[in-house]
Amino acid sequence: MTSEDRPVTSTLFDRIGLLYTGDRAREEIEDAALVVEDGEVVWVGPAGAAPDADERVDVSGRCVIPGFVDSHAHLVFAGDRTAEFVARMTGRPYTAGGIRTTVSATRAASDAELVTRTATLVAEMLSQGTTTVEIKSGYGLTVDDERRSLEIARGFTEETTYLGAHVVPPDASSADEYVRTVTGEMLEACAPHARWVDVFCERGAFDADQSREILLAGVKAGLLPRIHANQLGEGPGARIAAEVGAASADHCTHLSDDDVSALASAGVVATLLPGAEFSTRSPYPDARRLLDAGVTVALATDCNPGSSFTSSMPFCVALAVREMRMTPLEAIRAATYGGARALRRGDVGTLRVGSSGDLVILDTPTYVHLAYRPGVPLVTQVWKRGRRLV
Ligand code: NIG
Ligand code: FE
Repeated sequence: MTSEDRPVTSTLFDRIGLLYTGDRAREEIEDAALVVEDGEVVWVGPAGAAPDADERVDVSGRCVIPGFVDSHAHLVFAGDRTAEFVARMTGRPYTAGGIRTTVSATRAASDAELVTRTATLVAEMLSQGTTTVEIKSGYGLTVDDERRSLEIARGFTEETTYLGAHVVPPDASSADEYVRTVTGEMLEACAPHARWVDVFCERGAFDADQSREILLAGVKAGLLPRIHANQLGEGPGARIAAEVGAASADHCTHLSDDDVSALASAGVVATLLPGAEFSTRSPYPDARRLLDAGVTVALATDCNPGSSFTSSMPFCVALAVREMRMTPLEAIRAATYGGARALRRGDVGTLRVGSSGDLVILDTPTYVHLAYRPGVPLVTQVWKRGRRLV
């Protein structure tokens, strides 16, 4: 084989103006270089000192960050809730009830339609720098529709989440009966296709006892727990997350001091979803309070047709800085390393030796521009496992 037709296995990213590594030991490196080989980062250091590689990408002084880790998204659905959004913008409050509209549309959709729609959203995410995404079920709410939602999600990510407990569907004979299905027949059908179990613990959805029962049944079936907690008001969700050892409590918009301490001492990640507050015109979560208490914070889109129809992590970073008093450094950390922690992944969300070669080249000298220049498409290249995808 001649050198011309040898497959490219290593890539040197040279002349990186600012490298955000996500590695707390050496979080930012100016004038850096990085080598990815066989899909993994094998070298990080100063520009000009890197070992040879099969190909060289001249980053020309721009900023490189790890691919975003969007650890909370609901992508398998049909239909749209434009009218509900318009009504909200004229003062109607957001409630969990709207989920049922999407459930009807999703049940009526063919597998092919759901696959195409999910693929479109995943592609949207990738073009905005997201290289790892978690995808939940939760708009089927029958044994077959939940299972097919997860099968479809599995075609796009390993991070699939069983959310049969999104709301009690209107055709269930009672809430108790539905919880029995969620923890029984539906769980059995879904567990082989899921890594996580989730529950919407909220007024209008599932209460403390039901949520605990659902998460523990999932754990017994081999799934890892995470939870929708304290989105619409104070409630038991965050404390249940601590109690069952959830990887993450998501939303965390209304927390008591005890909730914050419980998350901190149990090492539960608080995943904040500012797209939901933006789209429901609600007060944002208090990120400062969580950070000051030592809680690891993640940022995610919550992409879904009801409360947050955005696929953009850069938008969430901008909101976190502008509306949640996170510094740009804290926000980029939460969108990469934080998301990886929320998914208990050590291989993504960072760019250090051994990390997956998932990276984004921004057309800016620093990641600060993600907040400073909101709404501007700053992602110019996206690489996953050492291959350029955008
Ligand atoms: O995370 N909170 C529950 N689920 C979604 C909303 C789903 C919907 O309104 O369709 C959320 O915000
Ligand atoms: Fe959600």
